[in-house]
Amino acid sequence: MGNRKAFAVVLLCCLLGVVAAVPAEHVEPVQDDAISTYMVHVASSHSPRATRNTARLTRAYTTFLQDTLLPVGMNAPAPSILYSYAHAMTGFAARLTARQAAHLEAQPSVHAVIPDTLYELHTTLSSSFLGLTPSSPLMMDSNGAGTDVVIGVIDTGIYPKDRASFAADPSMRRPPRCFRGGCVSTPDFNATEYCNNKLVGAKFFHEGHAAMMSSVIGSAPASKSPLDLDGHGTHCASIAAGAPVTGASLFRGYAPGTAKGTASGARIASYNVCGGGCTTVDIVAGINEAIADNVDVLSISIGGSIRNLYNDPVAIASFRAVRAGIFVASSAGNRGPGRATVGNLSPWTMTVGASSMNRQFRASVKLGNGKTFNGYSLYAGANPCRTMTPLVYGGDVGSARCEAGKLEPSKVAGKIVLCDSRGSGVVQGYAVKQAGGAGAMIASRKIDGEYTRAQPHLLPAVALTYGDAMEIRKYSRTPNPVASMSRFRTVIDVVTPPSPRVATFSSRGPNPVAPEILKPDVIAPGVQILGAWTGESSPSQLDVDTRRVKFNIISGTSMATPQVSGIAALLKAARPKWSPAAIKSALMTTAYNVDSSGGVIKEMSTGKEAGPFELGAGHVDPNRALDPGLVYDADEDDYISFLCALGYTPTQVAIFTGDGVVKDICTKRKDVAVGDHNYPAFSVAFKSYDDKVTQRRAVRNVGNNVNAVYTLGGYRASPRGVRAIVNPSRLVFDAEHQTQEYTVTFSLRMSPAASNSSSQQEAHSALVWTDGEHKVISPMVFTWPAPTANVAAM
Ligand SMILES: *[C@@H]1O[C@H](CO)[C@@H](O)[C@H](O)[C@H]1NC(C)=O
Ligand SMILES: *[C@@H]1O[C@H](CO)[C@@H](O)[C@H](O)[C@H]1NC(C)=O
Repeated sequence: MGNRKAFAVVLLCCLLGVVAAVPAEHVEPVQDDAISTYMVHVASSHSPRATRNTARLTRAYTTFLQDTLLPVGMNAPAPSILYSYAHAMTGFAARLTARQAAHLEAQPSVHAVIPDTLYELHTTLSSSFLGLTPSSPLMMDSNGAGTDVVIGVIDTGIYPKDRASFAADPSMRRPPRCFRGGCVSTPDFNATEYCNNKLVGAKFFHEGHAAMMSSVIGSAPASKSPLDLDGHGTHCASIAAGAPVTGASLFRGYAPGTAKGTASGARIASYNVCGGGCTTVDIVAGINEAIADNVDVLSISIGGSIRNLYNDPVAIASFRAVRAGIFVASSAGNRGPGRATVGNLSPWTMTVGASSMNRQFRASVKLGNGKTFNGYSLYAGANPCRTMTPLVYGGDVGSARCEAGKLEPSKVAGKIVLCDSRGSGVVQGYAVKQAGGAGAMIASRKIDGEYTRAQPHLLPAVALTYGDAMEIRKYSRTPNPVASMSRFRTVIDVVTPPSPRVATFSSRGPNPVAPEILKPDVIAPGVQILGAWTGESSPSQLDVDTRRVKFNIISGTSMATPQVSGIAALLKAARPKWSPAAIKSALMTTAYNVDSSGGVIKEMSTGKEAGPFELGAGHVDPNRALDPGLVYDADEDDYISFLCALGYTPTQVAIFTGDGVVKDICTKRKDVAVGDHNYPAFSVAFKSYDDKVTQRRAVRNVGNNVNAVYTLGGYRASPRGVRAIVNPSRLVFDAEHQTQEYTVTFSLRMSPAASNSSSQQEAHSALVWTDGEHKVISPMVFTWPAPTANVAAM
């Protein structure tokens, strides 16, 4: 099979905060007659021409299967086709036996057969934080906040019932004529009632999940509707393009104000591909439909752990989308703070990490000894813990992590229980409530640093940093310990702590597939974001929670991604001729790295300065992206060169392009290295201490002055220990020369011995081109081998 490696079975986890995905490696021998779902990539010469007529496509692929399997007597059990694809990939998804799949893969007419897997949702005040006020340059230039732009949201569907974020706007003109999508009706989704000039598309794709369910005991039933039963898709759609809603908040108190999508005038087309679980065949079906519908932007807050682009169906589908001119934003994932945890790794997609804003949901915690701490919570309701209440540590009353059923009611009744960290605080709080406790304090993990999860608890409860929790734990073992929790409130503070900061959970680089392509690309607000919510699920997503809310506050790179989708929609409206790569370049070269205190943006796990592997190019700055000066553009040809440079075969390249296999497609590009891809960032992995790496770039002048002259300036071009020689160091543009090329040659200026003093083999800086008016900033990041490894190599 294309991917013989056992895949990580990822729980579809809709917990608030970081997705607590525990990858359990299931290594099971595949039985020859075991039936599962596969994606079959078919050679273009054997596939029908691209069409929207899926019935015709499916008939053609049914015949194709018969012709291939019947002569060798493998036609039983008869394979069933779940989807035929013509836009997001070339081929189909089908239920096949392992033998049938293996036989198909051996055919010259088949490029690859890839088993279906589950991908995960990347969950865990934003427009004003982004500087998008009505008078800001981007809002002025974006033609009514992106009214002619359609954002396709690939997610858990949408809940439009009685949700003002998706209501019809009589002042808005008809949807753009080039949009060919629409809404489907189901028993619980009345398209006539719910769809309008704001919500212009609502479709669902559940075949992959339904098929997977048939063989997995205990899995959730598939939702056969565009209706969002989860909340995630509704939340993401409202962040990208929700209409302004005044007086929005969670529980009439938290994050009060006007809730507004980033591109509040843009249209939303929702594709429910996670009706119970996000299978790759359903995701690709959603993207396939969105391409056919002619959306302008795709927002994909989903990712998997597949570490090879030709085995990543979302990377392939995104390639086709970008080739069709669609901007694709995807989430970096919530597996931080470890290194190389980032997902969605292709250069054509915009990979978004998550950062905090200047807003916190705080409560005041006070101990009997007079000491005070900040707690973090979204609790709303009666508060018996306002006054001093007896305090116990869970470890002293049955369960350090406050697991359900393990706390001793006689020792917990009427008390505040301090719990060690464990997955979901809201579940732990509920266990304390079940045992008769009055309140709960939930410790964060040590690795979380200053990151804490404010949650909509079912009893008075707060999250605490690890350090504070340790101190409170010590106090809980003194005689007659008591504590109070009060003043649950929203705090907006631009001074302490400085913002933005990179969230602990935000996945980090370097890029494990192509270290030369920096990932994540940028960060955007993704911590405790207010967005619309489904009426089918509670804010805590616990079944025991009967509360229903119109808005909820959740965190994740999932929430950061639609912010960037919305900004891209505004840029598309303002700069209709820019390619997806040009929009991406503009967002990256104008991103900022300075926080509200004037220092470098910090990351929350250690409190230290963040570098490109945490920040990417930095925090998005929508208004500056409107006028970047120069752009690093790229098209399909550049992406093919990149795939060749990765060492992919002509057949693997054909999986992306959907064109015939061109035998010499890569031999023609032999001298192009991965690092030469025209990326707006530099990432160099030195292999030895005397390694010398040259990378090529081309920049196009998109500024007002066609005769601009750019020179190197601003930041120091070379960090200590690394030499960067830029050639030429002056770029002169005119009407005939709108694009100019340059090279940078990087070398290490240190001996292995000198490198001993620094424990980390990493440095970063930035390359800046300036014409006096614009600053075109590209992050540069360098890694090199540990000295001992190098000495051994010599
Ligand atoms: C759907 O909504 C429309 C408009 O409100 C209504 O006329 C129609 O009867 C509804 N259809 C169903 C099946 O409920
Ligand atoms: C560098 O580190 C290696 C191993 O940690 C050690 O053996 C060596 O003596 C160190 N060299 C210097 C110059 O400190």
